[in-house]
Amino acid sequence: MEGPYRDLGAGFARLAGTEGARRSPRHLRSVEDALHELLRNSRDAGANSIYVASSLKERRYRHLVVIDDGSGIPDVYRHLVFEPGVTTRHLDPVHDGGSPHGAGLSLYHIKNAALTAEILSTSSPTAIKTVFDTYTFPEKSLQSDTRPSNTNLLAVLANFASHDPSYLLYHGSPSRIAARLLQNHIIQTRRAAGRNSKGSSIAKEIERVRGEMEGLGLELSSRTVRRIISGEVPAAELVVAGGGGGRAKSKNTRRNGTGGPILSVGAEDLAEIRAVLRRAARSSYLDLAEIELERRPGEVVLRALVYEPEEAYE
Ligand SMILES: Nc1ncnc2c1ncn2[C@@H]1O[C@H](COP(=O)(O)OP(=O)(O)OP(=O)(O)O)[C@@H](O)[C@H]1O
Ligand SMILES: [Mg+2]
Repeated sequence: MEGPYRDLGAGFARLAGTEGARRSPRHLRSVEDALHELLRNSRDAGANSIYVASSLKERRYRHLVVIDDGSGIPDVYRHLVFEPGVTTRHLDPVHDGGSPHGAGLSLYHIKNAALTAEILSTSSPTAIKTVFDTYTFPEKSLQSDTRPSNTNLLAVLANFASHDPSYLLYHGSPSRIAARLLQNHIIQTRRAAGRNSKGSSIAKEIERVRGEMEGLGLELSSRTVRRIISGEVPAAELVVAGGGGGRAKSKNTRRNGTGGPILSVGAEDLAEIRAVLRRAARSSYLDLAEIELERRPGEVVLRALVYEPEEAYE
């Protein structure tokens, strides 16, 4: 009689139908669900650091790149892991609160839901890139007109980080993640060569780094890579555990002012304030989502929401 799994070598196995179904992760319904499974895979691979680059193209296509410094995937299994039931967790399913995992189905479901899903680098670091058409595979936060769209992805990350803080989790645009990879020496620049030599070898070094980034799924222009190398692009920050990413209303906003006159601020003034803040935001690769100006007796309270743009500026 056939056992519950078939040994594929190198620690891999293919689970047979019933055993797979028993351990099956819940059906993937959204980009957020897919991201959660990718994070879980990186964590289970023993990653110390996980880097998530997200960007949205044409306000429709979500690109997600998950990079980790975990144990990696043997080269010959890079395609096989997308087949149903293929897993290394057959002998030791993972229990992380909910139902046990290890059915070898997440990547299979992700590939089915995505336009593309690929292991771009199998180890040191491992990089998986997925592209979702959010018109056919929804992303919850894109259904809101007012919230910057990646806030819900951030909520997934913050929630994940809060359950198990044993690794460092970074999130940002591809250019910010690239800057972080350089800062963390996951990708190295040959600085000495760049500093002392002529323009042509600097250009070569930029192309070399650009190629390495591209190999990890981070597609950047030469100009952006130049900026990253020269330190102009802020590196992606750590995700704050449990931080959410939604808007926290200040508890003080309804406090009465100090008493005094009320400043009149016209529409033109407001437009100028907005322009100044947007300029400031853009110079640090951010954008301004909205501003609120509250006029109270004796004071003006300005609240500006900034976020990382989805489309990288060139
Ligand atoms: N980031 C990663 N690093 C190393 N190996 C990975 C990574 N992601 C996936 N794998 C390998 O690919 C296999 C298949 O992954 P997949 O998510 O499809 O299934 P699973 O994690 O085994 O089970 P589940 O269906 O519960 O997620 C994993 O068992 C693991 O061996
Ligand atoms: Mg998995």
